[in-house]
Amino acid sequence: EGTLGCRGILSFNISDIHFSPPPGCHGPGFSWKNAATAPRIPPTRLALHHFDENYSLQLKDLWPSIRASLLCEQKYGALLNNFSAVHHVTQELELLNAADFRGAATSPPLRPSVTPAASVRPHPHFQLLISFPLARLPDALGLLDYYLMDAASLLPVLALNVQPDDFVLDLCAAPGGKTLALLQTGICGHLAANDISISRTKRLYQILHSYVPKVIRETVSVTSYDGRDWGQLQGSTFHKVLVDVPCTTDRHSVMEEENNIFHRRRTKERQMLPMLQLQLLMAGILATKPGGEVVYSTCSLSPLQNEYVIERAVEIAETEFNISIHVEDLSHFRTLFQDTFSFFLDCRLGELVLPHLTANFGPMYFCKLRRM
Ligand SMILES: C[S@@+](CC[C@H](N)C(=O)[O-])C[C@H]1O[C@@H](n2cnc3c(N)ncnc32)[C@H](O)[C@@H]1O
Repeated sequence: EGTLGCRGILSFNISDIHFSPPPGCHGPGFSWKNAATAPRIPPTRLALHHFDENYSLQLKDLWPSIRASLLCEQKYGALLNNFSAVHHVTQELELLNAADFRGAATSPPLRPSVTPAASVRPHPHFQLLISFPLARLPDALGLLDYYLMDAASLLPVLALNVQPDDFVLDLCAAPGGKTLALLQTGICGHLAANDISISRTKRLYQILHSYVPKVIRETVSVTSYDGRDWGQLQGSTFHKVLVDVPCTTDRHSVMEEENNIFHRRRTKERQMLPMLQLQLLMAGILATKPGGEVVYSTCSLSPLQNEYVIERAVEIAETEFNISIHVEDLSHFRTLFQDTFSFFLDCRLGELVLPHLTANFGPMYFCKLRRM
């Protein structure tokens, strides 16, 4: 328990936040009635079974094709490293039919009704090519020239819309793809990258070493705190906060047995995910300055881990912390990126990229909140 906020508001333990699914909604868990007699089913099969039960209700006719896409090889994007001295990689990737993500986003032109979207156009300093991997060799400074990622992972970073000299917090940062994208803007005033996992934080360090020059690396503070405590450590400090939470990682869960959240020994952890996500989002909100913005993201299709967490956080911010939150409209992202991604049209809050056989990115959910 600790004192939160700069206005002497409260003494409140974030672990007091309770999470109960809405009526008729199943948790992200899957449990056998009698675990002792349950057959040994691989976690990927359990995941698929769970998704079939839940997502067929949520996504209806769309589910069979999303399911097929999840089971197919995903598509990658190459985030070009602005700090690298190697420039021929763009032409090499384009020879492999890689498309410029920025080009896709500027066509078709914006309609007047979505003019505010101009402020979230892909940052001119980003370049992301949809491509196949090439062998990567370090330049003379030892920096690699591009980072492979799910192209949809860039959308939460773009939604954050970092402005010059912003203090930015990446609360769940490892292994560091989005941290790297944030640094590529070249305009963060200060970047705090945190992740509870020491081993994953080491990977974050490796990425910073492989892609970012020392002088910029030194402006990033890397920590391994439990993000749920952050609001108490440095409340109301940041202009922008990214809360990219642990989730059921739907694509990984149906494809990889290793480190699978649907493994039976991880049932409890899986069932507690929405609670953890809510606590992390609350900590992110408390770490933001009044007027600042938080982007919440997951790589899951689950409404229980997406919109429902947002709704509960808005409610708790209001009732427990007297903080009013505005959920920002991100529908212009659909217009901007309609040629690159397939968006779910029935998202109540935020935006959701659906895996599609012709655009096999995501899933990626992102929602932006403004602390009033
Ligand atoms: C989806 S991953 C983040 C991916 C990362 N943003 C990127 O783009 O590479 C979620 C991360 O949350 C971290 N995490 C889990 N619980 C946490 C907690 N209580 N506080 C901070 N980080 C946590 C996990 O270690 C994991 O690295």
